[in-house]
Amino acid sequence: MKILRLQDLIDQGRVRGQRVFIRADLNVPQDEAGRITEDTRIRASLPCIRMALDAGAAVMVTSHLGRPTEGEFKPEDSLAPVAERLAQLLGRPVPLKSNWVDGVDVKPGDVVLLENCRLNKGEKKNNEELSKKMAALCDVFVHDAFGTAHRAEASTYGIAQFAKTACAGPLLAAEIDAIGKALSNPRRPLLAIVAGSKVSTKLTILQSLAKNVDGLIVGGGIANTFMLAAGLAIGKSLAEPDLLAEAQAVMAAMKARGAEVPIPVDVVVAKEFKADAPATVKSAADVAADDMILDIGPRTAQVLADKLKAAGTIVWNGPVGVFEFDAFAKGTETIARAIAASSAFSIAGGGDTLAAIAKYGIEEQVGYISTGGGAFLEILEGKTLPAFEILSRRATA
Ligand code: 3PG
Repeated sequence: MKILRLQDLIDQGRVRGQRVFIRADLNVPQDEAGRITEDTRIRASLPCIRMALDAGAAVMVTSHLGRPTEGEFKPEDSLAPVAERLAQLLGRPVPLKSNWVDGVDVKPGDVVLLENCRLNKGEKKNNEELSKKMAALCDVFVHDAFGTAHRAEASTYGIAQFAKTACAGPLLAAEIDAIGKALSNPRRPLLAIVAGSKVSTKLTILQSLAKNVDGLIVGGGIANTFMLAAGLAIGKSLAEPDLLAEAQAVMAAMKARGAEVPIPVDVVVAKEFKADAPATVKSAADVAADDMILDIGPRTAQVLADKLKAAGTIVWNGPVGVFEFDAFAKGTETIARAIAASSAFSIAGGGDTLAAIAKYGIEEQVGYISTGGGAFLEILEGKTLPAFEILSRRATA
C-alpha cells in the first residue's frame, strides 16, 4: 500500500515552518477522579509530535477521549489531564485550546493540544463542512491514530480528504508495516491465535484468517465451541452451540487448504468460575457434565508451544484461558513464553492480550504490539481500514 509518510515530507523539506495537524489516539483510561491509569497511547504518540517539532513545524494535536455528546462540554470529557501528561513527557508546555475549529494560534516550534475532537458537532458523521474547516487549519494533516483507524470521522477521514497534504505519522506507519509483514507477506508457517469468550464476536476474524493462516489456534470460550463442533463433550463450559455449523465450516476450510485448527487434547476444569476453585487437569474426552473448562491442559499447551516455536509468523489475539486466575493461567503463560522464545515475527493486539504480555513481562520479545483495539480486530477481519484507504488515495491522487 503506497502511503505518504511524515518522514518523507521531512526529508523533502516540506515541514519546516508549516502548520501540521496531528490526529493522535490519546483515548486513555482514567479513574473516577480523572487521573490517567495507563498512558501507553500517550507515549506511543510522542515520536510523531517530536518529529514535527524537531522539523520546525507549528504543531496542533488532537484526539477523542471517550464518546461524549457532540456540542455538550462536560469536564470529564476534557483532554486537560492528557495535556498535563504530554507536557511532562515532552518536557515543554502543552497549552490546551478549546473551540478551535475556526482558528488556532500556534508558532513554528510550538505545540498545542486541541480539546476533545468528538465535542465538535459533525465529528462522528464525518461532516464535510467541519472537515473542510479542520483541513483549513493546516498545511499538512498527519494521521497517527491507529486505534481510531477504523473510524471514518471528520478528524480522521474528512480532514484527510481536504487537507493540502495528508500523510501517516510514525505510529500509523509502524502499524501498517507490522500488519503487512504479518498478514500480506508472512514468513510461513503463519499461525494465528484467536481466543476469547465468544465465537460470535470473532467469527468474521476466524473466517478471514482461515483463508490465509497455516494454523488457527483457538482458545477460551471459542475453543469450547470448536471442541463441541469436533464432537467432544464440554460440560457446562461457556460455548455457543448455535454456531457449531460455522465452527465446522472454519475447520473444513482450513482442512481443505492443508491447514489445521488444533483441538485441545487436555483441559483444566473446575466446578465453579472462581479464582480459588480447585483446578483439575483432564483429558479432553473426559470432561464431566458439571465441569467448566477454564484453560487448556499441559499436553495441549506443549503441542501448541512447539508449533509456535517453529512458526515463521505469529498473530496473537486473546488469552487461551482465564489467566487472571493463577490456577487457570498456565496455558496462556506457556503460549506467551513460546511466542517470546520463537524466532517468528509476532504481532499482538487487543486489551486482554496486552494484559497477558505485561503479566509475563515479554514486551521486548514480541515483534510488534499493536495500539489498536477495535482497529486491530478489523484488520484481522481482512477489512481495509478507512485511514489506510484515504491515505493511499491521497498518495496516488
Ligand atoms: C479505542 O479505544 O479502541 C479507540 O480509541 C477507538 O475508540 P472508539 O471505539 O470510541 O471509536
